[in-house]
Amino acid sequence: MTERDRLLKEIKEEVLVLKESPLYLFRTTNKYFPVIGEGSHEAKIVFIGEAPGRNEAKTGRPFCGSAGKILDDLLAGVGINRSDVYITNIVKDRPQNNRDPLPEEIAVYGPFLDRQIDIIQPKIIATLGRYSMGYIMEKFGLSDILRPISELHGEVFEGKTSYGSVLIIPFYHPAAAIYNRSLIEILKKDFAILKKYR
Ligand code: URA
Repeated sequence: MTERDRLLKEIKEEVLVLKESPLYLFRTTNKYFPVIGEGSHEAKIVFIGEAPGRNEAKTGRPFCGSAGKILDDLLAGVGINRSDVYITNIVKDRPQNNRDPLPEEIAVYGPFLDRQIDIIQPKIIATLGRYSMGYIMEKFGLSDILRPISELHGEVFEGKTSYGSVLIIPFYHPAAAIYNRSLIEILKKDFAILKKYR
């Protein structure tokens, strides 16, 4: 086990017993799993979604339902293997009825995401949806240029980390394309930028 494996496993163990989370009781009552993240611990690209849905909470795997199918297709379209990237969410437990994450949930789980980024040290952070975009832009001091996702999707921003610079690329959330098919073409076009960084 590498040092990265060990540090990421620590996160998993801490989230498992995170009784202070407003979602802990909902998880344990439903025998759900927390969804910590999946993929390469050496990944150059980390994808960050919002929160697990039902399929994810039942399996403990991120993006394994219908949004995951769209993400898989987008990755395949730009020749990226899912196993070469790391996929996670800001919120690690399923919110009731798939509602949007609440600020207090983002506050509880955000520090775990921060640690995952510090451990994996990606070159690219690809945010999926407006919540992860907002969180990451703020984290990297880019709040001033934060705009609606309709204006920022597909743009590349630079953030500074303790290990050097990181490129931040906001994407629409793949689930949005389930209800609005025109977003698929926009997502495909935006994902094309990742070919440069594979
Ligand atoms: N939507 C997300 O934001 N994350 C998942 O893991 C699944 C669906």
